[in-house]
Amino acid sequence: MKLIVDASNLQGRISRHVYGQFSEHLGHCIYDGLYVGEKSKIPNIDGMRKDVIDVLRRIRIPNLRWPGGCFADCYHWRDGIGPRSKRPYIVNDTWGGVAEDNSFGTHEFLRFCELIGAEPYINGNVSSGTVQEMSQWIEYLNAKVQGPMTELRKKNGRKEPWNVRFWGFGNEPWGDGHMRPEYYADQFRRYTTYARDYGDTKLVRIAAGANGGDLNWTEVLMQSAGQWLDAVTLHYYTVPGVWEHKGSATKFDVPEYYTTLEKADNIEKIIKAQSVIMDKYDPEARVGLFVDEWGTWFDVEEGTNPGFLHQQNTMRDAMVAAISLNIFHRNNRRVRMANIAQLVNVLQAMILTEGEKMLVTPTCHVFDLYKVHQDADRVESFAQAAPIDGCKLDAITHTASVKDGVLHVSAANIHADKALPVELDVWGFDAASVSGEILGNGDIHALNTFKKPNAVKIRKLDLAVKNGKVLFELPPCSVATITLKPAAAKKAPAKKAPVKKAAKKASK
Ligand code: AHR
Repeated sequence: MKLIVDASNLQGRISRHVYGQFSEHLGHCIYDGLYVGEKSKIPNIDGMRKDVIDVLRRIRIPNLRWPGGCFADCYHWRDGIGPRSKRPYIVNDTWGGVAEDNSFGTHEFLRFCELIGAEPYINGNVSSGTVQEMSQWIEYLNAKVQGPMTELRKKNGRKEPWNVRFWGFGNEPWGDGHMRPEYYADQFRRYTTYARDYGDTKLVRIAAGANGGDLNWTEVLMQSAGQWLDAVTLHYYTVPGVWEHKGSATKFDVPEYYTTLEKADNIEKIIKAQSVIMDKYDPEARVGLFVDEWGTWFDVEEGTNPGFLHQQNTMRDAMVAAISLNIFHRNNRRVRMANIAQLVNVLQAMILTEGEKMLVTPTCHVFDLYKVHQDADRVESFAQAAPIDGCKLDAITHTASVKDGVLHVSAANIHADKALPVELDVWGFDAASVSGEILGNGDIHALNTFKKPNAVKIRKLDLAVKNGKVLFELPPCSVATITLKPAAAKKAPAKKAPVKKAAKKASK
């Protein structure tokens, strides 16, 4: 199989923000997942799990969306500030009907973002909140000038503003609030008027977008609110079956494996269709398309609360991640942010926890392999491979980028049961060294468990260079990243010291 990369054919920047994550007050994402409280025996920093922080720092998360999702549209931020003992309990009737003690609120979220080195992305409440509530939340976070919100923030222990740029206006309003696009567009216009820029922090105003391929929503939104928004969101989940019977996360056959990957791949058609509508109103692509919820959604794991959306994660999820990230790269003109759902213990998570135990999923390993593409310049890549029996996708999905003179090529073998020998032919790049890393050993069901947390892990890729081509083999259902470094730039000879001469002359 031939994979050609034309390193001289630059295709625009891949925003690091497409590697964003999503964390919601849902099941064990926040509580037990990333937050255990200061008094916990589990090692923590200010109540945040140290083991989780270490993994998230390693994969370099650029931004984190919070507090939902659907939860955002019933969240009232004032419940989550001030002394914890005085914070009210509420019922999280969106997810599992459990008690929410609000011990993880605004200050805790922003501290967590600092600890993992991610930019915060806050989703405001439009469906059950008020304009004043959202406007004051922004003031509380971003204002420096003396005023009631600044004073309140200082009283709660934070002197300096956090200067949060990313603000979402509601979540899935076609469901949360059952709004029509005309109504939502008007609500967006109201809310955004009172969402102020403080100091140098210019807000990125993110409007809630369509349900998948609903193009009318985008049309109405762009037409009537396009000038006030900076991004429109898109939510797309990969569900192998139907909504009532989504399919198991771990028990699936080869046809279901291929169906899942084909469904993941469908997002590209939706992105392209939404982009056509956006182009009509915004030909310069000022407005971004933020895929701020994506990933696999299976039946919940047996014996768990159905409202907690807990699922395991196999090499099939890793393939969905590779396919999706490659699509975001290819559509980088519009897609400038994406947030996989969700960070810990929910849906296609990076991390699963059980008490003090923690494991990283195959999906997390793909984010690790792919982090080199963050803020890199995409370059063109092409492949020639025989079709797969029983699957409509090309046998290989690939992407390539250059950053700081280093070329990275990522490629995944879609086959469930056939290895692909690859001949990588790189044009327009003078490589001095080549190395590679790979995930997956041919088993589509491979996964990490608390008993065997390292069953799936990244390992060195064996490769050879012959006649200027890089040769390696991709086992079935595997993902690899190859790094090509240029010859070290020769040091320019030190210039003879005209400065000294001039200095001597001057001192005479
Ligand atoms: O990620 C789970 C839920 O899926 C989110 O809360 C909601 O926005 C979406 O429907």
